[in-house]
Amino acid sequence: MVTKDDLEKQFTETMKSIARRVDLKAYVEQTPSIYHMLQRAAAKYVTGDDRAAGLQAGRMLINKGYAVSLEYIGENATDLQSCEAAALEMKQLIQNLNERGIAARVSFDLSHIGLTVDDALAFKQLAALAEQTQRTGIELYISMEESAKADAILAIYERAAAIYPNIGITLQAQLHRTTQYMNDLQASPRRLRLVKGAYQEPEQLAISRSDALNERYLHLLEQSIDKGHRVSIATHDERIVNEVINRGWAQKPEVEFEMLYGIRPDLSSKLKKAGYPVRIYLTYGHEWYLYLCHRIAEYPPNLYQAVIDITSDKPVDSVIDYL
Ligand code: FDA
Repeated sequence: MVTKDDLEKQFTETMKSIARRVDLKAYVEQTPSIYHMLQRAAAKYVTGDDRAAGLQAGRMLINKGYAVSLEYIGENATDLQSCEAAALEMKQLIQNLNERGIAARVSFDLSHIGLTVDDALAFKQLAALAEQTQRTGIELYISMEESAKADAILAIYERAAAIYPNIGITLQAQLHRTTQYMNDLQASPRRLRLVKGAYQEPEQLAISRSDALNERYLHLLEQSIDKGHRVSIATHDERIVNEVINRGWAQKPEVEFEMLYGIRPDLSSKLKKAGYPVRIYLTYGHEWYLYLCHRIAEYPPNLYQAVIDITSDKPVDSVIDYL
């Protein structure tokens, strides 16, 4: 008999496959009626098309007592011009954050600024952003992409973090490779963000959503805390959140919770109210298609929310959901 869990898993896999279909993405982008319709659904998770929207939402959440991360969404830029345009946007974002005295964290995919072209370009662009942020309170956090890119991303991170201590890295608990990487990491303070992992990966490289994955997540977290790394607990899984609190880890000064904008604002609000540091991960930009697909894939009931947002005549604004 097909269970509800089986159906949800199938739906998740289908959505993740849809997310990677470049032909569908192109169709959406070239069909104004569909683009604008889906853009309303994306507004739940993406602050807007431009930097001003990200900065405004960031300021409002900081005023409510949250820390924030900001990402100019995009990945897999395949030519020099697009990589440079993305890096320029990030440079301007950092400049604006400085001018406004907003101590945010800037996050990005290395494939947005050069990795798809070559590793040297990605390193060069990362180093330039790191130079710009050196004497500011701004941190740069590298996102983790598909497993095929993980070795290159970690190598660039290692090289850059040795020079620029304000650079952090995102690690996916689902990847077997992460266990080895964490074992090898020395007890020098690093900036880590621990996620479960958003990409579909083969069994020999990763484990899928399960109790075993949650156990691994908690084990990796314990290792990073024991080694004195600063760690962002980037999950919306309340079982993990409760376990972290029960084990007394949430009280440690080097630990914070970090959640994606628009997802479980009730949980973020509850944690903040209880006195734990909570960071909200904000995104902006035109490249929201993949991001929207991932958010629906992770939690199929979000599809209902998407339909509500598409058909509603009210503006979609997730900031108001944060108390
Ligand atoms: P999981 O997917 O197991 O869900 C557990 C529960 O959380 C669900 O039952 C539901 O209650 C809630 N939940 C989860 N997703 C939800 C959603 N979309 N809507 C509503 N409820 C939801 N991934 C990656 O591969 N590389 C990266 O660099 C990053 N970066 C990143 C930064 C930050 C700050 C976060 C929070 C996440 C990422 N991710 C990521 C995404 C991450 O890998 C993962 O796909 C999502 O966080 C969903 O996994 P959870 O840990 O929340 O649990």
